[in-house]
Amino acid sequence: MLVTSKEMVYHARAGKYAIGCFNTSDLEITKAIIAAAEAQKAPVIISTSPKAIEYAGHEVLAGIIKEEATKSKVPVALHLDHGLTLALVEDCLKLGYTSIMFDGSGSDLEHNEILTRQAVEMAHAKKVPCEGELGFLGKAGQNPSKLTNPDDVIGFVQKTGVDFLAVSIGSEHGHGENEALDIKLLKKINSQTGIPLVLHGASGVPDKDIKEAIKLGIAKVNIDTDIRHTFVRGLRDFLDKNPKEKDPREILTKVMNEIQKYVEGRIKLFGSNNRV
Ligand code: G3H
Ligand code: ZN
Repeated sequence: MLVTSKEMVYHARAGKYAIGCFNTSDLEITKAIIAAAEAQKAPVIISTSPKAIEYAGHEVLAGIIKEEATKSKVPVALHLDHGLTLALVEDCLKLGYTSIMFDGSGSDLEHNEILTRQAVEMAHAKKVPCEGELGFLGKAGQNPSKLTNPDDVIGFVQKTGVDFLAVSIGSEHGHGENEALDIKLLKKINSQTGIPLVLHGASGVPDKDIKEAIKLGIAKVNIDTDIRHTFVRGLRDFLDKNPKEKDPREILTKVMNEIQKYVEGRIKLFGSNNRV
């Protein structure tokens, strides 16, 4: 069923496990994520970045996810990932998104707070939760991250009214080389607020760090790059072994199986299996 992300993420925060927030840009990845969540009896968040929305077309992508979520046996939330403008937040809410992230981390703190507050008000008017980002998450090998300042946490949470807080604690977007988390920093941040914290850029973060972070308030873990890599690896492997196969449905079914296996593994690591 299609639900908002609030209850599942707060339940995870209280139970010291995390909800997987997996990015999609097409039918195949969406189906594979939902199949994995059903097999593991896990609530799940399906996430669409602005790039995915641009690739697939907003109505089409939202339509696929809403349809698959509604048919699903497990709770599924449809999430806007890194919404950079209030106009995009408004469009997503109109299209029936059940979870929003406004990303004002490119602005200075004051503007981040002002814009995030507006996004939160728009989302809450539709009873949809809203995530904000404090600090800045860089891209592996390209631009550096700016770690979250724990002294800014209480003010940001109170001024914006965010439901979940994305923090920058050492991970980067993309699959980087040395993505160890700053667990001491996370401890400090977690001592400042009781709201669920969000780990972005989880592709490339060691499993042991993810587990440790979940004990310290991380209740939503975002994965994108490793899903796309699993897709391409699955496609290559299958075509290498079956060069004569000409039916894309046969090929993509095998790719979907690989993505499902990967997502099931992440769900088990996050501890959100057997929660439905
Ligand atoms: O918002 C999406 C995530 O932060 C994904 O990061 O591509 O490193 O897995 P990733
Ligand atoms: Zn992210």
